[in-house]
Amino acid sequence: MAANVSSPSVVNISDLRILAKKRLPRMVFDYIDSGADREQTLGQNCTAYNEILFRPRCAVATPSCDLTISVLNEEFKLPFMLAPVGSSRLFYPKGEVVAAREAGVAGTGYTLSTLSGCRLEDVKSATNCPAWYQLYLLGGRDVALKTIDRAKKAGFSAIVVTIDTPVSGLRERDLRNGTKELLSRNPIKMLPYLSQMLLKPCWLTQWLGDGGLMSFPNVELENGPMGYTEIGPALEASVVTWEDLQWIREAWGGKIVVKGVHIDQDAKKAVDLGVDAIVVSNHGARQLDSVAPTIRVLPEIVQAVNGQIDVLLDGGIRRGSDVVKALCLGAKGVLIGRAYAYGLGAAGGQGVARAIEILKTDVLRTMKLLGCDSVNNLDESYITIPDSWK
Ligand code: GLV
Repeated sequence: MAANVSSPSVVNISDLRILAKKRLPRMVFDYIDSGADREQTLGQNCTAYNEILFRPRCAVATPSCDLTISVLNEEFKLPFMLAPVGSSRLFYPKGEVVAAREAGVAGTGYTLSTLSGCRLEDVKSATNCPAWYQLYLLGGRDVALKTIDRAKKAGFSAIVVTIDTPVSGLRERDLRNGTKELLSRNPIKMLPYLSQMLLKPCWLTQWLGDGGLMSFPNVELENGPMGYTEIGPALEASVVTWEDLQWIREAWGGKIVVKGVHIDQDAKKAVDLGVDAIVVSNHGARQLDSVAPTIRVLPEIVQAVNGQIDVLLDGGIRRGSDVVKALCLGAKGVLIGRAYAYGLGAAGGQGVARAIEILKTDVLRTMKLLGCDSVNNLDESYITIPDSWK
């Protein structure tokens, strides 16, 4: 039913990706795997890490190596946490609950997407570690206010406001696969694309056993939870602007993280508006294509923020060495998205745990090879960046 992710042949995140591709219908795999337009940024988010070279300090013993970070005054046992990934319940039964649980077991954080197939209360109670709630304003302010209230009562410790999605990006693979049609609840529209699901009977059985076609129970509209096909128009009708931060902050009363910062100007704006942390993110290259890879713009943003708030980063992280490079350039921590989503799609909780384990052992090994005993001691002296980045 699920892939054997403890097999010795599963060595890195690419191996989990291959197993996810085997288990999932094409439209689900491509939903995870694809990016916007010609997928230029998708590739560059990953390959940009290759341009950063390490400068190790050798003959240094680091018998114990501290991987713990503190973000928003909360402790994370790992320098990476799980990013919000929409529709995870399509990848594996109760996907969001399963992923949050594994984050908690590993001692790290989980951010729940608004586009979750599981109730936010169930997700929060799956983990004792910090969980943040990623907010879209789908359905308008009143709908968001209800969700904010629920997130507060459930114990989420930060709201993550995504600012790069005034409209959904063009994911060409989703269009070709008929993703929207397949999740439309309309048998006539579904029919031409149905073979993708029938070709993966194990996934199909588990998916149907988990309730099949899902809606988004944390977006409570007047006529019930929002359905998959309503997302596009709802996003366009509820564009998040800087002005919205004010009422979100008043309603939430806690920490606010802004995710989707690409340029120094927006970073400064977030600081000026009293945001608690930012995530340098291009939405996993799923929104505007041809933007710079996140690791490439991190130095500019760290400089603009000048230590006033925590800077996090996501995008393209596939190895522990990528995590370490981002920390060397001033990120307090990073968020992983596809890296764990492939694991979830391949084998549920075991797959997420394996993805976390791969990255954790990678980080540890990289730290020892660098001769650095704490992720909090990493800085630019451990790397060389190309002159063109300066
Ligand atoms: C949702 O935020 C997505 O990128 O699919």
